Amino acid sequence: MPNVKIRNLVKKYGDIYALDKINLDIDDGELFILLGPSGCGKTTTLFSIAGLIKPDQGEIWFGDQLITSAERNYIERPQERNIAMVFQDYAIYPHMTVFKNIAFPLQIINLSREEIKKRVFETAKSLGIEKLLERKPKQLSGGQRQRVALARAIVREPNVFLMDEPLSNLDAKLRVFARAELKRLHKKLGITFIYVTHDQIEALSMGTTIAILNNGKIEQVGEPDVIYNSPKNLFVAGFIGSPPMNMLDGSLKKENGSLHLDLGFTDYKLPNDMQKLNEGKYKEIILGIRPEDVLISKEAVNKSFRATIDIIEPMGREIEIHLDVGGKSIICVVRKIENLEIGEEIYMTFNDKKIHLFDKNTEENIFAIN
Ligand SMILES: Nc1ncnc2c1ncn2[C@@H]1O[C@H](COP(=O)(O)OP(=O)(O)OP(=O)(O)O)[C@@H](O)[C@H]1O
Ligand SMILES: [Mg+2]
Repeated sequence: MPNVKIRNLVKKYGDIYALDKINLDIDDGELFILLGPSGCGKTTTLFSIAGLIKPDQGEIWFGDQLITSAERNYIERPQERNIAMVFQDYAIYPHMTVFKNIAFPLQIINLSREEIKKRVFETAKSLGIEKLLERKPKQLSGGQRQRVALARAIVREPNVFLMDEPLSNLDAKLRVFARAELKRLHKKLGITFIYVTHDQIEALSMGTTIAILNNGKIEQVGEPDVIYNSPKNLFVAGFIGSPPMNMLDGSLKKENGSLHLDLGFTDYKLPNDMQKLNEGKYKEIILGIRPEDVLISKEAVNKSFRATIDIIEPMGREIEIHLDVGGKSIICVVRKIENLEIGEEIYMTFNDKKIHLFDKNTEENIFAIN
């Protein structure tokens, strides 16, 4: 099975760059996620891989095989690429039984009836819908219909499986199950999945690698925990995580020989590994800290400062606390609270190992690891 290589892909619609020099390397067998806000170019990337649109520049390779080249005016047809696709508004044929829906792609390639029967049954079984083969789509739940669409896509044993927001029609509870099911399916099939979503939870929970797109450009590519723990820039940091990372404006200054960040409400001494920062190079800094890395306590601790509890929002397993720090709102997430009250003054600080510093000018994470 091939890896998928995308080189300098450009697609323009009028003056808009839907894709603006996209480069990606997708390893064989990955569950690779394309994540980003509406209009960032996810579907355009997927359609380019499928051969459904012709890019203005760039190349796409499956392993050693060139399948698209704008420069050489070459585009291999979609049906020759051995890919399967499931789209957001997947259509299954309402007048056909589940069996016939799944068998449809096989009939086009002229397999024997016995072979078709065998393949349909095996595929249906792998998705737990083998008992539904005689039903019509209207006799199925939304989740079952989704699985029929998946079955129809994988029955041809594709090399690469492209999915564009395939779970967006499902309700919240079904989505959680469908997510787990897709992961299981991915493991079982062992083929490359390229999966489009704008849902960061889906991306973090399913992906082996995530590529974050914005305005037709790749912002960062990495494993979910790298994207979460070491976002390359402000866009990625703000896009991933809920509630989002707190972003605090600060300016660097030197005090008693060590670097501090003047945040207005406190002078925060930078941790040791950040002391090597070239203070001449950076002036205005944004400190990013995730809500779970904001630490609160009734008593003063090292580097703590005063904060007032503004709102307490119990979310079931966790509690979100909105803190007011000198007129600035900071969100903190804790597992439990011990008799804290709205309006109470407490102490807060940051987990030193988890702070991020962004250059306000370039929006880059100064200490990102990749
Ligand atoms: N056929 C088209 N004609 C003109 N502009 C298009 C066309 N298809 C896409 N675009 C534009 O290209 C950009 C990228 O579109 P794309 O469909 O790839 O976004 P997306 O990331 O899939 O968004 P969504 O999450 O909303 O589906 C958008 O600005 C879109 O308006
Ligand atoms: Mg789309």
